[in-house]
Amino acid sequence: MSTRTRDLTDADWWRTAVVYQVYPRSFADGNGDGIGDLAGLIDRVPYLARLGIDAVWLSPFYPSALADGGYDVDDYRDVDPRIGTLAQFDELVAALHAEGIRIVVDIVPNHSGSGHAWFQAALAAAPGSPERARYVFRDGLGEHGELPPSDWVSHFGGSAWTRVPDPSSGSGRGGQWYLHLFAPEQPDFDWSNPEVREEFHGILRFWADRGVDGFRVDVAHALAKDLTEPLPSYPRIARDVLKDDGTDVLFDRDEVHEIFRGWRKVMDEYDPPRSAVAEAWAAPSRLPLYARPDELGQTFEFDLVLEPWDAAAFRRSIEVALERARAAGASSTWVLSNHDIVRHASRFGLPAGTDLNAWLLSQGTSPVEDRERGAARALAGSLLLLALPGSAYLYQGEELALPEVADLQPEALEDPIWERTGHVEKGRDGARVPLPWTADGPSFGFGAGGAHLPQPAWFGRYAVAVEDADPASVLNRYREALAVRAGLLAGEGVRFVDGREGVIEFERDGGWRCITAFGAPAELPPGEVLLSSAPIGAGRVLPADATAWLRDPA
Ligand code: NOJ
Ligand code: CA
Repeated sequence: MSTRTRDLTDADWWRTAVVYQVYPRSFADGNGDGIGDLAGLIDRVPYLARLGIDAVWLSPFYPSALADGGYDVDDYRDVDPRIGTLAQFDELVAALHAEGIRIVVDIVPNHSGSGHAWFQAALAAAPGSPERARYVFRDGLGEHGELPPSDWVSHFGGSAWTRVPDPSSGSGRGGQWYLHLFAPEQPDFDWSNPEVREEFHGILRFWADRGVDGFRVDVAHALAKDLTEPLPSYPRIARDVLKDDGTDVLFDRDEVHEIFRGWRKVMDEYDPPRSAVAEAWAAPSRLPLYARPDELGQTFEFDLVLEPWDAAAFRRSIEVALERARAAGASSTWVLSNHDIVRHASRFGLPAGTDLNAWLLSQGTSPVEDRERGAARALAGSLLLLALPGSAYLYQGEELALPEVADLQPEALEDPIWERTGHVEKGRDGARVPLPWTADGPSFGFGAGGAHLPQPAWFGRYAVAVEDADPASVLNRYREALAVRAGLLAGEGVRFVDGREGVIEFERDGGWRCITAFGAPAELPPGEVLLSSAPIGAGRVLPADATAWLRDPA
């Protein structure tokens, strides 16, 4: 048991929380079938408590055909039997709460899985029926409806429409088409239908009633679409071309904000109110809308995941994020890794500008990453973000500086992106390989059996047990940072100190500061060193690729 006493009644906890993302199928396997589960996670609650996080964000754990890693939900009110049971979910909530750790669950409202009872009913029902009206079914174009209803494209490649058999023909004759902005196994809901809106209010209450503290909202920007006939042309999926006036065809339309105002009312029925964070890809000027107090409260800031290890680039993204949070009356959200992107320990170990997909396709051979440099920079970057006002979202394994597994063989891949793009994009599996807990063993301590994605031979040196035993490890720096941070945070104030190229330095309210040396070593200002990502050299020199936190002299 840790000695932390975090006040679970605090309504503002999310503003400064360190939230740890658990991708449940790859975290810890309790029954040795190769798939991570709630039993494994419950077992590791002491690890999470020791790490010092404030909350767990649990990626989808619902029944799913796993066409998209669980983001194809077949039942929003249950636990996938391969992952556990509702009773175990309750046990998890209790175990986390007993440690003062909150739980945020992933809600996937844009689409269900194709095995969802509503979608199955829609397939069996006639065109124009109420069952079909919960999704987006349309007649095809062309003489016999043989062409998709519009030129819309799926995020995972190919058309966003799939044709279904006509249920009345009995002969598999072509019928209507349904919309899926992601895989065909992920049919989009029609959010202009009040039944869909009501259903999701019920789902939010279902989990909030079970003690869930908050929600991470998947593709929050996509729920409202322009479905007026004839459907407008929109042959692309790209954030940089989105309209910024609320009238884009598919994304960030004004109506989406009405939907989230409805959600806020539901979340405010609870004491403390449930928190939420939007995964939204909208025009930069409109990102703050999702974070408004009468909407979700927070929206992920993803600018930094696209930035190279460069002081000027980091500084720019940080200031933009702080400004957006201020504009919304929210707090910023810092992210360097998640289950959708190449792990930052690898990104920062590759030359700036590396095409990450090409690198993955080369099985990590071209260019070759510098693991040591990547780990140093990854830790320095994380400590920099942990020193800023706002909340930080960590992704399982980053506390170990775990690199991306770039050399997964094609036959091992699970991400639909690989097949849907005709093997042009390798996808996201390299960030989802089950965690190493011990230096050896059948799956490096992930479980008693194998691992659903193969772990490389070098995984053992990043194992929790190995890093736990090494006082100089990245894991021990994360633990130290979270403990120190908890004692330091005070106020939202942050003042940048200018003048040194390749350095980011800022003062925080409460008389402390953070300094990161990017390209070259940097001399530290006076003050007690509270924490540093690398040993401080003679003459108080912070080495390159390192961060230190200092208490200002009295
Ligand atoms: C965003 C999720 O993070 C990603 O993993 C998923 O594929 C898409 N949304 C679709 O749900
Ligand atoms: Ca299992």
